[in-house]
Amino acid sequence: MTTAASIPSPGTPRAPEAVFERIPVVIADDPGEACKQLAREIRSLIEQRQAAGGTAVLGLATGSTPVPLYRELARMHREEGLSFANVVTFNLDEYYGLTRDHPESYHRFMCDQLFDHIDIRPENIHIPDGTVPPEGILQHCQDYEGRIDAAGGIDLQILGIGRTGHIGFNEPGSTRESLTRRITLDRVTRQDAAADFLGVENVPRFAITMGVGSILKARRIVLMAWGENKAGVVAQAVEGPVSEAVSASFLQEHGNAAFLIDRSAASHLTRVRSPWLVGPVAWTPDTAYRAVIWLAEKCSKPVLKLVDEEYNEHGMSDLVTERGGSYPVNIDVFNRLQHTITGWPGGKPGADDTNRPERAEPHPKRVLIFSPEPQDALVAMGGVLERLIEQGHDVRFVAMTSGSLRVRDEDALRFCRALLELSEHSHENSWGGQESEAERLVCLLENKTAFDPDPPEIRRIKALLLRGETRDACAVCGLDRERVVFLYLPFYERGRYRRFLVGADDVEKCVAILRDHQPHQIYATGATADPSSLPAVTHEVLERSFDQVRPEPWAGNCRVWHYRCRETPLQPEEISMAMPMSPDQLERKARLLLGFQTISGMELAVCDENRELAATYDRLGLAEYEAIESLQRRR
Ligand code: GLP
Repeated sequence: MTTAASIPSPGTPRAPEAVFERIPVVIADDPGEACKQLAREIRSLIEQRQAAGGTAVLGLATGSTPVPLYRELARMHREEGLSFANVVTFNLDEYYGLTRDHPESYHRFMCDQLFDHIDIRPENIHIPDGTVPPEGILQHCQDYEGRIDAAGGIDLQILGIGRTGHIGFNEPGSTRESLTRRITLDRVTRQDAAADFLGVENVPRFAITMGVGSILKARRIVLMAWGENKAGVVAQAVEGPVSEAVSASFLQEHGNAAFLIDRSAASHLTRVRSPWLVGPVAWTPDTAYRAVIWLAEKCSKPVLKLVDEEYNEHGMSDLVTERGGSYPVNIDVFNRLQHTITGWPGGKPGADDTNRPERAEPHPKRVLIFSPEPQDALVAMGGVLERLIEQGHDVRFVAMTSGSLRVRDEDALRFCRALLELSEHSHENSWGGQESEAERLVCLLENKTAFDPDPPEIRRIKALLLRGETRDACAVCGLDRERVVFLYLPFYERGRYRRFLVGADDVEKCVAILRDHQPHQIYATGATADPSSLPAVTHEVLERSFDQVRPEPWAGNCRVWHYRCRETPLQPEEISMAMPMSPDQLERKARLLLGFQTISGMELAVCDENRELAATYDRLGLAEYEAIESLQRRR
């Protein structure tokens, strides 16, 4: 994988491994690095225009993706004196029906993330207005286009990409010529915004967005994407045909557009996923493993039945030549794949562990399972947790945040009303004195909307509700209530989704639990997620904490296992431990998840994913299981 020094512009020669890519792509080591590159480009644009006495016109995007870019621009202003006084901005879109000060409006987002931290002139900021009455929308949209033209057009348009392939809010079906207009949001888009809006039912159905045509008029376009979740759609936009089904694919027709992505978002590009199709590769055991599994899936055949011709036809003839035929290659891969399967996630005591995912000794092991919000680890690895306990390990389930942002007002209200009734009807006993307190809580909840920030006592009740549900769910897996630890990391209490900032206090709490338990195994998530997502933020806390304890003797003996949460599930070639589940076990998992009032349909679908993975293992020629949970070992 190559990391280019700067974001390509017209004339930059295309790397030979990028033959399948129809648009220049830069794969950066991480989003922070990528955003620094882009921020430098923006700074030089602004400074050039300043020197010439002109303005720089930027097209801006919202969502998690540009958050690190905006932080870097704000830093450049604060620490390096970069002025935005000559900058004019046009935002891509706004939810229709939200007022400017709604916590989820893009107006509010832009102020919180960027405009409040730089010296841009308020009159230079343009964002579509989500409150224009229906009869005024057409005019408003035409005026928006007119303002862009009057500003001289957009010099540099920043984009993110939605999972439907949309840019701005140009959902599938948007034409190349489309201009600023009102649009109906796609179901997937609304689901992706569900957490921000405390439930999909609160996500607006419509938005006003610049069109594909308006975007393509920009002189330069950079689309950013981070995290595993974007990998599929990035590959479609970059390598697939230009199509209304993926509006980002229209960027292929722009002479000066580039994709700026991290390694996770690049993971489905041909040069990364199947480099043997691009040119000769050095066949390491890992590459051969990935390639053969890929080939088996491509040919819909079990690994052991692949023949020389299939290798030849798919760019892998040198592998079979080197190894003296397909059969030895097949056998190696089959064995390695089989060795990922274990019913002993903590290691099988007394067994030969040469080919097992986890060491046999010591037994029992001290285990820490880190869950970003309390339910996350149960969704991803409830079956593994159950096995670890059955097999006698010393497990602590660590809920990193309170999860209170997930709990709906109506659930808290139901609880407080029950409390009120209990106190009203219990004058003779100790509940009597609680009546006024319960009344106050009911009143607080009745008089707030879902988007008013929760007062501390309501947050506390929500956290307690989820705490009870988590303990109950862990109990279904056999874990004692006192082994469920609630860290209540402070960053979560201070922030909102997509806007969390890790502090030293978070790291301190996490270090304390690591030192206290000195685990042989850690289960964690978020390593390949979008950096502003909750799993990624908690992962950052864990990494910073682990850096502090690394020199301690126990740390060298600790293995870290990653599960995927709210992201694309692990692909077979990425799995280092596959834990089969029986039908009964899968049913128990579904039941324990249903114990959470806040569980979403998407989270419940994990049981289907577990079944689907078992079917994949079966297709690859391994034993037929009901379901499989998967983990990846990380060093
Ligand atoms: C929304 C915005 C897009 C953004 C997309 C992806 O739909 N309208 O402009 O690119 O979300 O969001 P995120 O960056 O949070 O993944």
